[in-house]
Amino acid sequence: RSAVYYAEIIRNNGIPLPKEDEFLYGEFPENFSWSVATAAYQIEGGWRADGKGLSIWDKYAHTPLRIGKDATGDVACDSYHRIEEDVEMLKSLKVSHYRFSISWSRVLPDGTTRYINEKGLNYYERLIDALLAANIVTLYHWDLPQALQNVGGWRNDTIVQRFKEYAEVLFQRLGDKVKFWITLNEPYNTAYLGHGTGRFPYEVGHNLIKAHAEAWHLYNETYRARQGGLISITINSDWAEPRNPHRQEDIESARRFMQFFLGWFAHPIFKNGDYGEVMKRRIRERSLAQGLSESRLPEFTESEKQRIKGTYDYFGLNHYTTVLTYNMNYPTSVNIVLLHRGVATVTDRSWLDSGSVWLKVTPFGFRKILRWIKEEYNNPPIYVTENGVSERGAFEFNDTWRMHYYRSYINEALKAIVHDGVDIRGYTAWTLMDNIEWAAGYEEKFGLYYVNFSDPALPRRPKASAKYYSQIINCNEHLN
Ligand code: NOJ
Repeated sequence: RSAVYYAEIIRNNGIPLPKEDEFLYGEFPENFSWSVATAAYQIEGGWRADGKGLSIWDKYAHTPLRIGKDATGDVACDSYHRIEEDVEMLKSLKVSHYRFSISWSRVLPDGTTRYINEKGLNYYERLIDALLAANIVTLYHWDLPQALQNVGGWRNDTIVQRFKEYAEVLFQRLGDKVKFWITLNEPYNTAYLGHGTGRFPYEVGHNLIKAHAEAWHLYNETYRARQGGLISITINSDWAEPRNPHRQEDIESARRFMQFFLGWFAHPIFKNGDYGEVMKRRIRERSLAQGLSESRLPEFTESEKQRIKGTYDYFGLNHYTTVLTYNMNYPTSVNIVLLHRGVATVTDRSWLDSGSVWLKVTPFGFRKILRWIKEEYNNPPIYVTENGVSERGAFEFNDTWRMHYYRSYINEALKAIVHDGVDIRGYTAWTLMDNIEWAAGYEEKFGLYYVNFSDPALPRRPKASAKYYSQIINCNEHLN
């Protein structure tokens, strides 16, 4: 029955049928969670509403020439004033979970608990109450209060305590209704994209890991018994394939890539409380070769390692694409080639070559990274907390190629479950509706729903992929 049903969905949407042997007809496990995600800065708007403090993204977007067309998130999808409209979309998608993030400076305008902005907090209370779907709440999705940035942001280790206090406010005030917490979204990007090269990213990464661990312990020791939820971290990584699968250096470079990207945060938290050997050795060698007296990568003390190790309830994964790696002994750790036409399935959309978001449609890498996590980190329960695809410029309601992306990626996740025994518990599409794609502005559209930003009413309208995703969810629920 499932095979027929799937085939129908595909036909109805005009997607060419794959060869039988490439597509796995089957079902997802019972109670699998189907979710869709957003992040505060990308959708909320209301940047000064009701006493919200400034975040680093407010400041960045207001600096001329930073974001294309000088776009800002001042209004974005105006979700701060449109709870009902947002919930309507979730209802018609029939997702079981909605993943959103909380704006730290909306709740704590100067980043500290000196002053709690009740009106800001109330927005999240109302949203949570309005949701029929369960929620997945991210504490930190990149919009650090500017007041904390002014004293060094993630480079200043007092941030660990600040983050813990912020988390505590949310556990206290929202924890009766939130049963699924994500401490940090994509720490790799906060560290690396946010702080460039040299020593800074590693210092930032160090504090991010400690902040996550403190929030986890706080929840685990003080709130879990009463509130009974899950808390963990969401780590992003591309999958790396060796450019030449027969060349030892290339194979090693692909492994190294995984250790530097996924492993940077996963190794301490999901393995032994410390960075992986590959990473420690490599950064040390490079640092010394460049005349530094010690490694750029800071060290955890023994007690910190104990405190960090095992601070997870699940493995949150954001994944989009695959890269090819090779080693030419350039001064970087790994050299990367983007996948080209012919090597992987690509569409002819310009976003593929845009440079800002260089996604390629490489579903096989999804299955491989899921399996890697199983093998490398002792088979943790995995929630895919983001996966999706963007378009730039040209826009179509009939987004068949986005349907193709979801269809093939979701199927690879199914293969990972059925064939590889990976313990995947949930899948999340990025994103509910078109929104501000950070520094890439509004041109980069990942939404299942289209938002007309030139109409002040900001109407939302489903793309074909919204209906398609909903059909996949519905189909699986019928099967269970
Ligand atoms: C990563 C981030 O978590 C999200 O905010 C972003 O919009 C998507 N992936 C797409 O780049």
